[in-house]
Amino acid sequence: MNPTRVLVTGSAGQVGVDLVDTLGGSTPPGGDEDFLPDGRRVESDEFAVLGLSRHDLDITDRDALTRAVSASRPDVIVNLAAYTQVDRAETEREACFNVNATATESLSLAAKEVGAHLITISTDYVFDGEKGDGYVEDDITNPLNVYGASKRAGELACSEADTIVRTSWVMGVRGKNVIHVIAQRATSGETVRFVDDQMGTATMASDLARALVTFIRVRPGGVWHVANTGATTWCDIATFVGASLGRDDEFVTAIATVDLDPAPLATRPRRSDLVTQKWADGGWRALPEWRDGITRLLSGRTANSELRS
Ligand SMILES: NC(=O)c1ccc[n+]([C@@H]2O[C@H](COP(=O)([O-])OP(=O)(O)OC[C@H]3O[C@@H](n4cnc5c(N)ncnc54)[C@H](OP(=O)(O)O)[C@@H]3O)[C@@H](O)[C@H]2O)c1
Repeated sequence: MNPTRVLVTGSAGQVGVDLVDTLGGSTPPGGDEDFLPDGRRVESDEFAVLGLSRHDLDITDRDALTRAVSASRPDVIVNLAAYTQVDRAETEREACFNVNATATESLSLAAKEVGAHLITISTDYVFDGEKGDGYVEDDITNPLNVYGASKRAGELACSEADTIVRTSWVMGVRGKNVIHVIAQRATSGETVRFVDDQMGTATMASDLARALVTFIRVRPGGVWHVANTGATTWCDIATFVGASLGRDDEFVTAIATVDLDPAPLATRPRRSDLVTQKWADGGWRALPEWRDGITRLLSGRTANSELRS
C-alpha cells in the first residue's frame, strides 16, 4: 500500500516537531508510546511526511503555498503554522489575521484544488469564558482578544470538508512554553505568581500529535475539541510542577487576574476548558490526565537537556 502523503506546515513549532516524529513512527520526548487513541501504532512506512517550517514555506505567501501544495500533492495537509503571540497580537492585528485567517483560507482552497484533506488547529480562545461550564464544539463563539478572533476567522474560512481541531494551553518538551519557565524557577530556588481564576485544559504536544494521527487516518471533517483530561488553572499547574521538582515551600503565590502587573494586553477567558466528549464518542481513547502529561513532559525535559549538554 502506498504511504499516506502528509504535508505539515509550521513543522518547527512545538506541535510540529512532535507530529513529524510521531508520523515517522517514533515517540517524541515526553510522549507516551502506549497512548494510541485508535489502538494502532504508526508503521514506519504508513506516512510520507513533508514537514515545512516557516523558513521553507511562509503560508502567507499565497503563490509559494499553491506551488508547494501542487508540487507535493499531499493526501492530507496539517496546518500547524500560526501566529501564536496572544498579547503581541493586540498591536499586530493585521499580521495575526494574515497568518491565522487569510492563509488558512488559502490552504483550504489549495487543499480542495488537489483533493487533499485539510486539518487545521484552533483554540479555546474562540470562546469568551462566560458559559460557566466546559465548552462543547457547538457552543457559541465570542473571542475576547485579537488572537482568538483571528483563529475564529480561520475556522470560518475553512470548508465544511476540513477538520478543525480546537485545543488549549499547549506544551511540549521542545516548545517555547511556560512550563520551562516554571521548572527553571523551581530548580533555581525562586518563587512564582500565577492566576487561580482562569480555568482551562492543558494539552501535551506529544498527546495532541497522537490525536492528529487519528484525524489524518479518519479525516472526519467538522470541529473537534482535543485536550488532556481534567480542567485546571495556571496556579495549580505551577504548584504541581514545583511539587514534582521537590519544592514543598511556598513556591507559588496565587493571584487574581486583576492583580497582574503589568496587566497583559490581551484579555483571556475566565473559564474555557474544552469538553472532549465528541472525541470519546468517536470511539477514541481520552488523552491522559494533565498531571500524567506534565510528569512526562518534565522527565522528557530533563532527558532532552542531558542530551544537549
Ligand atoms: N500554544 C498554545 O498554547 C496553543 C493553544 C491553542 C491552540 N494552539 C494552536 O495550535 C497550533 C500549533 O501551535 P504551537 O503551540 O505548535 O505554536 P508554535 O510553537 O508557536 O508554532 C507555530 C509555528 O508556526 C510558524 N509560523 C508563524 N508564522 C508563520 C507563517 N507565516 N508561515 C509559516 N509558519 C509560520 C512559527 O514559526 P516562528 O517560530 O518562526 O514564528 C512556529 O514554528 C497553532 O494553530 C496554535 O494557534 C496553540
